[in-house]
Amino acid sequence: MTKSTWKWIVAGGVAGYLGWQKVQKDGRAGRFLAADSPRGTAVVTGASSGIGEQYARQLAKAGYDVILVARRLDKLEVLASELRLNHGVLAEALSADLATPEGVERVEEAMGKLDDLVLLVNNAGFGTMGPLLEKGLYSQLDMIHVHVNAAMRLTRAALSRMVPNSYGGVINVSSIVAFFHGAGSANYCATKAYLNTFSKAVQAEMKDKGLVVQALCPGYTYTEFHDSQEYNEFSRNEVPGWLWMSSEAVVQESLHALGNGQVVVVPGWVNQVIVRFATLGIDLASLRRLAKRLKGGG
Ligand SMILES: NC(=O)c1ccc[n+]([C@@H]2O[C@H](COP(=O)([O-])OP(=O)(O)OC[C@H]3O[C@@H](n4cnc5c(N)ncnc54)[C@H](OP(=O)(O)O)[C@@H]3O)[C@@H](O)[C@H]2O)c1
Repeated sequence: MTKSTWKWIVAGGVAGYLGWQKVQKDGRAGRFLAADSPRGTAVVTGASSGIGEQYARQLAKAGYDVILVARRLDKLEVLASELRLNHGVLAEALSADLATPEGVERVEEAMGKLDDLVLLVNNAGFGTMGPLLEKGLYSQLDMIHVHVNAAMRLTRAALSRMVPNSYGGVINVSSIVAFFHGAGSANYCATKAYLNTFSKAVQAEMKDKGLVVQALCPGYTYTEFHDSQEYNEFSRNEVPGWLWMSSEAVVQESLHALGNGQVVVVPGWVNQVIVRFATLGIDLASLRRLAKRLKGGG
């Protein structure tokens, strides 16, 4: 056999092995939803709508007590009483503005009182649209406070509660934009990239302590996210339907994968293909133009 034939055989073997490993990982349910895994309290930020509300619903259904965090207390209280009634779990509403140090401290304090904290979901967030120099400074700072400062501080507080029990997990809700640089979303993309890098590094630090960290990277998801003032000029119809996922499906994939060895989890095969584009150096604006063109058939 020639040298180049050997090269192809080795390359094929490695590719086959990596593919097989990925299938094994994707198909293996994480331990957090296993019937015999310990139940305790899960803290979910941004639980008053969208992806966070879904985490609260799916975790309560699986038997976790939940603490629901956001600013809109009325919405949290309605959800908490529904979860108590339907699933017989403890569910508590905690109003906190995570763009402020006081808001973050409230959640840190609440977690500090829990002996059975098993999961933190740092999901609260919002997007700002527009170039760095044209956007107001304070909305961008608020976003950095919520996505970066609050997530970092709460992760730190949660893990320090979990270490003595050698059990627990943190999910940081990132985005597929973490893989791209997006003109017009500089800080949004950068905060999400932070969450991916941070999650990978902290998982490496926690590996021997039995704790798990996940960075969940959804793509377009039907929630209230695009209803804010920031997205005035955005219409959901601009984006083809097959690029959208339901928050229910996104959260199912996240919880299914939690603890199965993957840190960065991209829900949905369409989003996984999109993330591959990042490695080709394609930027977010070109992707958005492509999506519009596909929608328009042009
Ligand atoms: N939807 C998408 O297409 C998409 C795609 C990728 C990633 N994501 C990420 O998914 C996460 C959840 O967003 P979503 O899509 O579910 O949007 P959403 O329906 O608008 O929910 C956002 C949640 O964050 C909370 N929140 C916002 N600012 C807050 C603050 N200062 N303090 C406390 N809570 C705050 C909101 O609650 P209150 O207003 O009651 O405070 C709400 O519960 C975000 O991190 C977002 O970046 C979304």
